[in-house]
Amino acid sequence: VPLQAHNSFGIVAKARALVRVRSEADVQQVLAQPDQRDVPKFVLGGGSNIVITGDVRPLVLKVEVPCKRLVDETAKAWIVEAGAGENWHDFVTWTLDNGFPGLENMALIPGTVGASPVQNVGAYGVELQDRFESLDAIDLVTGKLFTLEAAQCGFGYRDSVFKHVAREEGDFGLAGRALILRVRFRLPKPWKAVLGYADIERKMHETGITNPTPRQIYDWVCAVRSAKLPDPRVVGNAGSFFKNPTVTNDQCQDIIAREPNIVHYPMPDGSVKLAAGWLIDACGWKGKSVGNAGVYEKQALVLVNRGGATGGEVVTLAKAIQTSVYERFGIRLEPEPVVV
Ligand code: EPU
Repeated sequence: VPLQAHNSFGIVAKARALVRVRSEADVQQVLAQPDQRDVPKFVLGGGSNIVITGDVRPLVLKVEVPCKRLVDETAKAWIVEAGAGENWHDFVTWTLDNGFPGLENMALIPGTVGASPVQNVGAYGVELQDRFESLDAIDLVTGKLFTLEAAQCGFGYRDSVFKHVAREEGDFGLAGRALILRVRFRLPKPWKAVLGYADIERKMHETGITNPTPRQIYDWVCAVRSAKLPDPRVVGNAGSFFKNPTVTNDQCQDIIAREPNIVHYPMPDGSVKLAAGWLIDACGWKGKSVGNAGVYEKQALVLVNRGGATGGEVVTLAKAIQTSVYERFGIRLEPEPVVV
């Protein structure tokens, strides 16, 4: 089965077999078949956070569970639910169209609802974990349906329990084991704008709007993202390729002494987050290529497929970037997408 249309990098690769899953029953059917039950499986959502480096041997379960609905409304919040297969941005748009604001800062993030908790997506000051209520998933080993609350998901910066493999007894890693079916979101009432990000502040300045509506923030976020991030339907990519690294305040002062212009953000715990895009840019990578894999001209944190790139080329480029950032700044960049 060709996978090019199923990964936002647009890398050409094949899967041995792919099953489309629209419901829990579809998963149970897979688990009931002896030739499918015991084989390794790979859960695929929108394919917007993976780099495929070869043909995929595990059985691919392509999650296409539909649903968008309000499940509860209290004095304090709207609780909305979406099927894991829903496109994330379409779901965000639907919430606003129906009067349930709160996800607008995360508009236009590529991928599906089911993938959003896996890497705890976030943008412009809001992370998925800030709006998360609970999710339903199937354990692909036991076939059991289970529900997880936020505290059980191990959310961190672009991280969760769904990205980790259990290595020993007692570890709660769910990578390769859980198939997320539905996610519920808690959207607090009364709605409050999350502003304060440089790009958003600039929009407020430009428009003279100081009290934006959810829809205005949504429009701003869409405009900012479209201006500096490549549309995966046009230029293959997986969003930010590296996480923004965190250093201690002492380390940061050291670096500032050498690099006064470094973009950095103090964190509540006293550590400092550095803009990986700035580090990569400072090493001269913007617009450069290795084979058909390149560094996007408008945002150095995004690696792109210039046409016909292999996963190997993307990984080689990523390694070269890591090496030069390490040699110049002594900082190790950690990739964000999952290499398959
Ligand atoms: N910068 C440069 N050169 C570059 C790129 C960035 O100097 O080539 C500087 C910018 O001028 C800016 C700073 O670096 O001062 C940060 O850049 P930006 O505001 O674009 O955000 P980012 O840190 O690169 C993060 C997230 C994005 C998210 C935006 C907005 C990560 C890894 N990335 O990017 O998330 O949309 O903030 O909140 O945390 C993603 O995870 O895939 C993603 C796109």
